[in-house]
Amino acid sequence: MAFFLQICERMEKIIITIDGWSSCGKSTLAKQLARELHYVYIDSGAMYRAITLYFLRNHIDWTNEEAVAHALEAIKLVFMTNHKNGQTEMYLNGENVEYVIRDLVIAEKVSEVAAIKAVRAFAVARQQEMGSRKGIVMDGRDIGTTVFPSAELKIFMTADEDVRVKRRFRELYEKNPNITLEEVKHNLSMRDYIDSHREISPLRKADDAIVLDNSHLTMPQQLDIAKKWVSERMK
Ligand code: CDP
Repeated sequence: MAFFLQICERMEKIIITIDGWSSCGKSTLAKQLARELHYVYIDSGAMYRAITLYFLRNHIDWTNEEAVAHALEAIKLVFMTNHKNGQTEMYLNGENVEYVIRDLVIAEKVSEVAAIKAVRAFAVARQQEMGSRKGIVMDGRDIGTTVFPSAELKIFMTADEDVRVKRRFRELYEKNPNITLEEVKHNLSMRDYIDSHREISPLRKADDAIVLDNSHLTMPQQLDIAKKWVSERMK
């Protein structure tokens, strides 16, 4: 690992994008890579989740363009590192919302909100600013296609639906033991449908992205594969 880091630190920084279906482990791989490379990790989905939280809390009618524009003016999104665990956390207007945005209540509405043109323009502009100095790993749905179309390494992640549902169920069950596998399955397939069928920046594999199916891979195995791709891109 030390050798890998030494090589990478001598090279120019690159942008790594990780897109894919809901709950296929994008953020796990993105965090692993950012840690190894000493890069910044940005969870673009957290931004759409935080915007959704703001809209729900403030009863914003997101079918009304003017109401959306007005609401977006009042939203300030910042990522800050939690020095206790080294993780990047999402702040909405100064409040740490990292925990609350993971709730199923947010997951039920986020894809609808993320399909709105003004919302996407708002989030994408901030994402592009964050990547202006490179040295970033960003995960989401449109990072390789729209946010950083010239990224040096683009990964498109996928995993069997059953595997994805079980992974997300385990995460949500820890917070809410009343949740059912059916609810989680329904949410993932609904989001995948909306995300891949929306008009603006739908979820799709960029032509130059490499597919990583991690249904049967352990975390160290997926990291090894991705590190090999990073080394190839840095040569
Ligand atoms: O963790 P998971 O893969 O389930 O989702 P997420 O990354 O937290 O993203 C939540 C939702 O935000 C997605 O279902 C999309 O509707 C939206 N999203 C998007 O439209 N574009 C992105 N770049 C990232 C997320």
